[in-house]
Amino acid sequence: MDRILGLLKEAGSQIVPFKWDGEDFFLLDQRLLPEKEEWICCKTWQDAAAGIKDMVVRGAPAIGITAAFAVVLAIRQYAKGKEAQESIAIAARKIEASRPTAINLIWAVRRMLKSLEGTSRENLYERSVSEALSIWEEDVRANIAMGLHGGKLIEEGTGVLTHCNAGALATGGYGTALGVIRGAIRLGKHIEVHADETRPWLQGARLTAWELIQDGIEVSLNVDMGAGVLLKASRIGAVVVGADRIAANGDVANKIGTYTLAVLCKENGVPFYVAAPSSTFDHHCSCGDEIPIEERPGEEVVKCRDRQVAAKGVRVFNPVFDVTPNELVTAIVTEQGVLRPPYDKSISTLPH
Ligand code: MRU
Repeated sequence: MDRILGLLKEAGSQIVPFKWDGEDFFLLDQRLLPEKEEWICCKTWQDAAAGIKDMVVRGAPAIGITAAFAVVLAIRQYAKGKEAQESIAIAARKIEASRPTAINLIWAVRRMLKSLEGTSRENLYERSVSEALSIWEEDVRANIAMGLHGGKLIEEGTGVLTHCNAGALATGGYGTALGVIRGAIRLGKHIEVHADETRPWLQGARLTAWELIQDGIEVSLNVDMGAGVLLKASRIGAVVVGADRIAANGDVANKIGTYTLAVLCKENGVPFYVAAPSSTFDHHCSCGDEIPIEERPGEEVVKCRDRQVAAKGVRVFNPVFDVTPNELVTAIVTEQGVLRPPYDKSISTLPH
């Protein structure tokens, strides 16, 4: 973990959503930010999986890395017992099912299991820790690389708008979309950062604003529906978002509201960029229609924190992601470089 923190320090942002102290895995409780910084200790794979399901940790790459450590915890729980293999396989399937849209979750669990093939029972735990740390470190390196590739796309003196939180808190550190913003600043560009508040969980208002302010980056918050006004007034030179899953044809699943933003970008002639590591591409999904979209309880919409704000008895539509068709995506920034249309061709060049 020290090496990972060293990389992040060098790149200029030391915020991380989890810690591994050599024995236990800790999650920063993102539900409480920015009011409180509290860490939850995960002693079992069930603790880590519940952390994903209940949004203690969120953001596709961060969910993936948490899932990798959940596998580590499952191995610690079961490797010495009878029927170890079966118990670990059942735990892995349940971890994979903790949230449905982010492909990084399934990707990380499968990579963990593959890395353990042929490992003796005594070495399983040690091997799993080392693989989980590698997944984390590779994610941080990918984000820093994306920052430099994507930072070049951002014009000097422009406004950049982002949606949800695709930052350090949503990844192993540094962020994807916020990585591009951090990268542009690292390249010496003077940009004005705008964040959509992101109903209903307020990832933009609570998390994006918090982590940018922690890192000394000024940010202006707008209600989601304010994005159109900003774009029409030519105050935004680029929109940059993250992704939960990208299909083989370049259709992008991301936080609900992303599609609306992409349409607004087209209408106003503003580039719409997506930043995501190779682990977010699902080469088995031919298009966005095949991506499972999570629906969360209506309670998250009708209540603000614990207070009921909507009329009692109202029905709720609460899909938490939408799909942006590839024709609205100007470019996809990855750690391998910047992908351009036609995406079926450019995406097929990624390692998979
Ligand atoms: O519901 P969330 O908060 O997990 O949704 C997160 C997003 O939609 C992010 O934009 C996406 O996971 C990319 S994170 C680098």
